[in-house]
Amino acid sequence: MKKNIVILGTQWGDEGKGKIVDYLSQYSSYVVRYQGGNNAGHTLVVDGKKIVLHLIPSGVLHPNVIGVISNGVVISLIDLVKEIKMLKDYNFFINNRLYISNASSLILPFHIKIDLLREKKLGLNAIGTTGRGIGPAYEDKIARRSIRVGDLKNKKNLSNKLKKIVSYYNDQLVSIYKSSPFDYQVILADLLQIKSIIYDMIKDTTLLLHQAIKNKKTIIFEGAQGSLLDIDHGTYPYVTSSNSTIGGVITGTGIGSKNLDYILGVTKAYSTRVGNGPFPTEVFNDIDCYFSTIGKEFGSTTGRKRRTGWLDGVALRYSVELNSLSALCITKLDVLDNLKEIKICIAYQDVFTSEIYSNFSFCILEHVKPIYKTFPGWMKKTSGIRNIKDLPNPAYCYIKYIEKIAGIPVHMISTSPDRNDIIMIKHPFLKF
Ligand code: GDP
Ligand code: IMO
Ligand code: MG
Repeated sequence: MKKNIVILGTQWGDEGKGKIVDYLSQYSSYVVRYQGGNNAGHTLVVDGKKIVLHLIPSGVLHPNVIGVISNGVVISLIDLVKEIKMLKDYNFFINNRLYISNASSLILPFHIKIDLLREKKLGLNAIGTTGRGIGPAYEDKIARRSIRVGDLKNKKNLSNKLKKIVSYYNDQLVSIYKSSPFDYQVILADLLQIKSIIYDMIKDTTLLLHQAIKNKKTIIFEGAQGSLLDIDHGTYPYVTSSNSTIGGVITGTGIGSKNLDYILGVTKAYSTRVGNGPFPTEVFNDIDCYFSTIGKEFGSTTGRKRRTGWLDGVALRYSVELNSLSALCITKLDVLDNLKEIKICIAYQDVFTSEIYSNFSFCILEHVKPIYKTFPGWMKKTSGIRNIKDLPNPAYCYIKYIEKIAGIPVHMISTSPDRNDIIMIKHPFLKF
């Protein structure tokens, strides 16, 4: 029986983390988003209804769960308020059970504008960001000039800080990008209006979580993005601006590693990537069309078509090591149902020297091609299966091979978008 678990993505995001967090949250008291911002798009399908969450932790659809947005997250308050309203429209009321860290840095309109203008200027070399101002907001955090959620509590201080930072951005907007400047008074007025809505949610979430741990409450830490988008360990510069690997939990919440009992890596049965950057197992034409169509691989945040590819076993092993993963959850197995053959990349080969690489390193990715092991497809429906015994044998063998290549067990398999379509092999919270 585990107390506190981390659920994070092992690939380039969109592995299906939201569904798994939602499913396991029924056994948990708290669910915490600890890094990233509203660049995330976590999809939940409940009673046939699709709900996409960008900032609010995916567990809050369960009425007894407390959602926490901790210090490591960059928050766009305008988008947070929209999301609260969206949930209300679906009859999920979370006002008295959502807390926001007073130490979270804010994403403000000039961050978004600079993000978009920089991407435009980079042209073909653009990162392919979500355009949510994530990079600039984290830059301000590191440069110690962020406006933090706690700053909302002191109007004079807020006004002074805002005036300074707006002037800093206006200089760039006007002189470099020939764009129009922002009026800090307008941003201030908007912030003061939002403050009245979220005031009671502002907390020292580190203290809150320490207390929860003392009271032996169960906590799920919900990762955003995926390990290969990590600012330090991902495919830099084609990454996001936070630590989406395990360290992000610790710095992003103030909880130490001894309180993390189990780390679940969510892995899609194939690969996808939104935005630019190396992707050794990328496929094109028919197979890409198959994954896009059957897997509905269009971004939950921006609607962009996701690039698709076979499962990359070399990258998966890297993620297992980066995050000290306890186990894997394989998602979207059902998407492979109609494929005659299925491939897993087991090593890379250098296209110039023919050298074989069995380990992932960001510096080789631009000049490698994948070496595949090919499996027979099962050509049967697995969608909706909830018992491992019902899996066709080739699908079971595929899962077993993933375990072998990853070096850790698969504890869960997801077989449809629906919140309850899960094969539970070993439950992190229950003994059975
Ligand atoms: P996240 O960002 O990791 O939470 O993932 P997204 O929500 O961005 O993308 C995952 C997509 O796959 C969503 O549309 C989910 O509804 C869907 N999904 C999740 N698990 C499964 C599954 O097992 N099978 C199928 N077919 N779809 C799934
Ligand atoms: P979830 O949590 C997939 C990608 C963007 C871009 C890069 C940098 O839903 O898995 P950013 O806006 O963060 O500066 O963009 O990171 N990216 C994601 N890709 N899923 C996500 O989140 C992502 N969040 C950011 O496409 O390549
Ligand atoms: Mg997503």
